Amino acid sequence: MSTRSDVLSALRAAGDAGVNGEALAARLGVSRVAVSKHVSTLREAGYAIDAAPGSGYRLLSAPDLPLPGEVEPLLHSSMWTALSGGAETGSTNDDARAQARSGAPEGSVVLASRQTAGRGRLGRTWASPDGGVYLSAILRPTVAPAEVASLALAVALGVVQGLETLGARPLLKWPNDVLLGGGKLAGVLLEMSAESDAVEWVIAGVGVNARCPSDAPPQPGAAYLEDVAPGAGLARAAAAELDGIADAYARWSAEGFSAIRSEYEARFALSGRQVRVSDLTGAVRAEGEVTGIDDDGRLLVRAEDGSVARVVAGEVTLRQ
Ligand code: BTN
Repeated sequence: MSTRSDVLSALRAAGDAGVNGEALAARLGVSRVAVSKHVSTLREAGYAIDAAPGSGYRLLSAPDLPLPGEVEPLLHSSMWTALSGGAETGSTNDDARAQARSGAPEGSVVLASRQTAGRGRLGRTWASPDGGVYLSAILRPTVAPAEVASLALAVALGVVQGLETLGARPLLKWPNDVLLGGGKLAGVLLEMSAESDAVEWVIAGVGVNARCPSDAPPQPGAAYLEDVAPGAGLARAAAAELDGIADAYARWSAEGFSAIRSEYEARFALSGRQVRVSDLTGAVRAEGEVTGIDDDGRLLVRAEDGSVARVVAGEVTLRQ
């Protein structure tokens, strides 16, 4: 992890006794000025750090935000090896993509507590105010590009299973929306770079509405984690999501979507529902009753004439 994480860990370990800046710099093999800069950056991110002449730096409080230094100690999975990010960025997917292009390994994650240019599926904007958990993970699956469609479902399942550990019971709307009580709790945006037969990297971007911002009305159609898991906290939500994604991804990588299909279907919000599935241009791809998901993650839609369409991608709307 980074020197900033090391500074934070040292502050945590020192507790009320505090830690001398000079001694810390020597221990970490950096300059005294570098330590002071890291302390300033931590303060800007919301950490309250006291600096007293005798005892040095003392951590007074940490923010409940999905910052690397808060999320990392809560992770159980060893998959996530490099967490970065801060309070605000444009889009964590853009940051993660830049990292992936520079060769960052699988397991790198970018976190943010708000985004100024958050992106959703189908070219939509993803409103990203304070109170959300916004993260993007770099994956490098050794599969053909066509298989990445079902990876989106695996990531969404991982998010749901992670949030279940906090007491929430969200449902999945194919392909990768996470719903709670009819509102949208989380969305998943997968972006990839691939050659004709191999995937170079996938960015799995996840936005979770953790709590309604105190200075703004609830977003239309949104559901909030804090309504069902009060006190879970934003850092804990981020760690739970990442643990869930790591687990689902490991099983998807080893055995394919078929290994997790029944878990997806057990949380499926669309079974038996009348739907219309449209493509990017708005053209209707399938219409009828949802009968399930197949082993490749395709949505099964039975039309009135009894024929069953297997849909690889699209936008589902419920028919009244
Ligand atoms: C959707 O349209 O449902 C997907 C929304 C995905 C939003 C997340 S927030 C973190 C990451 N960064 C982005 O700009 N988008 C994704």
